[in-house]
Amino acid sequence: MELYEAIEKRRTIRDFADKPIDAETVKRILSAGLKAPTNNHLRQWEFVIINDKKERSRVLNLKDMTDPEDCDKMLDGFGMTDADQRGMYHIAMPKQFSMLYNAGCLILPFFKLREPLLQPTCLSSLNEFASIWCCIENILLAAASEGILGVTRIPMTEELEHIQKTINHPDDYAMPCYIALGYPDRDAKLPVQKVIKVESRMHFNKW
Ligand SMILES: Cc1cc2nc3c(=O)[nH]c(=O)nc-3n(C[C@H](O)[C@H](O)[C@H](O)COP(=O)(O)O)c2cc1C
Repeated sequence: MELYEAIEKRRTIRDFADKPIDAETVKRILSAGLKAPTNNHLRQWEFVIINDKKERSRVLNLKDMTDPEDCDKMLDGFGMTDADQRGMYHIAMPKQFSMLYNAGCLILPFFKLREPLLQPTCLSSLNEFASIWCCIENILLAAASEGILGVTRIPMTEELEHIQKTINHPDDYAMPCYIALGYPDRDAKLPVQKVIKVESRMHFNKW
């Protein structure tokens, strides 16, 4: 598949077919992640793969938000008015746990911290965090080129604390998100994707 085709095919899905991803395919996808640009040349990224459902139950400390009224209240609280954006949240919120639990492959990516992530002193303090997101995008695009889609979820603080206890990762490594990958379910729901006309975002010489 051409790169541009993989870029077009990559969408976030939260409904997975009951089909694992074979180990060689996972390796190819993660190898693409490990080719991403990195701030300090070292690619200090590690991946914890959790495919055993019992282990997933142990590691995942979150619930689906099943009541659409609760979702609306949350979105109103954010002051969110865009209908497509609200539509995406209505698709996403009832699946925050189930998408991770049901995925063909659940990956917890980690990057090495140089200083505390949440107390940056300058832009370059965030370089390690920025680099792992380059790695994650490579993973998502490589997966799309294999016909595999997925979703990233940003963990809440209590989820991170729980993960540290259950998988016992070193203190100087941090997890930016969960990556759930899998073959899309036939009825996988896709929110409306905002289409942006590139010319409307291009500025020449001045904003
Ligand atoms: C930094 C980042 C954080 C995200 N967090 C979540 C999340 O917590 N839960 C979720 O279901 N999707 C999450 N997503 C997926 C977005 O909702 C999705 O990328 C967006 O709606 C655009 O849809 P598309 O990926 O299909 O183009 C996240 C994506 C990014 C890049």
